[in-house]
Amino acid sequence: MNTVLIGMQWGDEGKGKIIDFICQSKDVIVRFQGGNNAGHTVILNGKRIVFHLIPSGLLHKGKICAIGNGVVIDPKVLIEEIGSLKKEGVEVSANNLKISLFSHVIMPYHRIMDGLREKKRIQKIGTTMRGIGPCYSDKASRCGIRMIDLINPEIFALKLKDNLAEKNEIFEKIYGLKAFTFGDIYKEYSEYAKALKPYVCELVDFFYKLRNKKFLFEGAQGTFLDIDFGTYPFVTSSSTVSSNAVLGSGLSFIKNGEMIGVAKAYTTRVGEGSFPTELNSELGGYFQNKGKEFGATTGRPRRCGWLDLVLLKRAKILNNVNKIILTKLDILDDLKEIKVCAAYKQNGKILKEFPSDLSKVIPVYETMKGWCKKTENIREYKSLPTEARKYIEYIEKYLDCKISYISVGEMRDAIIKKL
Ligand code: GDP
Ligand code: IMO
Ligand code: MG
Repeated sequence: MNTVLIGMQWGDEGKGKIIDFICQSKDVIVRFQGGNNAGHTVILNGKRIVFHLIPSGLLHKGKICAIGNGVVIDPKVLIEEIGSLKKEGVEVSANNLKISLFSHVIMPYHRIMDGLREKKRIQKIGTTMRGIGPCYSDKASRCGIRMIDLINPEIFALKLKDNLAEKNEIFEKIYGLKAFTFGDIYKEYSEYAKALKPYVCELVDFFYKLRNKKFLFEGAQGTFLDIDFGTYPFVTSSSTVSSNAVLGSGLSFIKNGEMIGVAKAYTTRVGEGSFPTELNSELGGYFQNKGKEFGATTGRPRRCGWLDLVLLKRAKILNNVNKIILTKLDILDDLKEIKVCAAYKQNGKILKEFPSDLSKVIPVYETMKGWCKKTENIREYKSLPTEARKYIEYIEKYLDCKISYISVGEMRDAIIKKL
């Protein structure tokens, strides 16, 4: 069966750990959007490995990991990621890592522009400053540089010249900065091209030959960072919802049987934007510390709050989720009382529809009894404390969706099957 896995909140739901787990029964793992704004953590032999661009299935032997056309690639970061995985003894070769010819390349001017825009805006987004937005903008403006362009020295020179002619004017005249030198970038990126060329391939034909294999699509970010359906403009620049798995890979000829939504047992968000259940109290700090809620990419502290079921219901619909995996249940272990947001209020009235603007809503909470027991070492659903099972079953009932697994720790084996 083919599976699409996406985040149901604002990212960092624990997708990396779950991909590493699910991919054992898959053959091909595909990233279809985003770039190195993502940070997907897997713990291998007690060591923290953070994937930014390479699918989180690479630690398993015999899997093919692919970076689809919908991804934007910072070649320097990808080369470093390949290097550090090899250092850990992980096999990374042209046999198990494939990069789409049509993926777009993040250039130095994209990273700089990301920072400049952010600085100039009154309403800041709090981006990861990795050049994601400007790179996707160039893709849509049809002046982007793709992998296929980067590995062709003549075409690369032509496209880089064209881009610098426009971008340098903006940098010099609008921002009063020094212009980029063609020669410097050309030289640096030609080295990257050489290093990455063996991995670059025509993925559509390649995938077609593998169409009977089992595919796993690894979503990055989360539903509410989606460019269309997220909390715009406080979103990322790609479609993070499950339907983009096809578009970002060219794999329209396979059937996706399973849509897995990963949800954290509470909510976090990095960067700016509305967050109805945010806790600006000591409790928020408790989640941050106990859950080690600091960005896997930027190290920024993540904002924390209670689980928001209104958001999850919306995410279930947007992604057609038919199975949920709940992560970080163990972080709730010490709480005497646990709240879940079961509705939104606006102007004193309970909202019946999902609001277009989350900044105006007030969460309506249900309070549940905590279990005050350690769950990290539990491996069977029936061994979970009654209150923990009640919490899980309340979520299932509210969302009318099965929770198939519950993750209770960062280690690989800290996972409980529920179905
Ligand atoms: P991703 O972006 O969705 O892959 O998530 P991140 O890797 O950015 O953040 C999730 C963090 O939580 C990582 O540090 C994981 O090691 C950790 N993690 C994942 N699942 C669990 C869990 O069930 N319990 C605990 N305590 N930590 C977890
Ligand atoms: P993973 O895959 C959490 C957030 C940034 C910012 C907004 C836009 O690890 O879950 P961008 O650099 O994409 O233009 O920033 O999106 N953001 C993430 N937040 N997890 C992520 O990825 C994120 N990728 C981007 O913090 O608010
Ligand atoms: Mg992350």
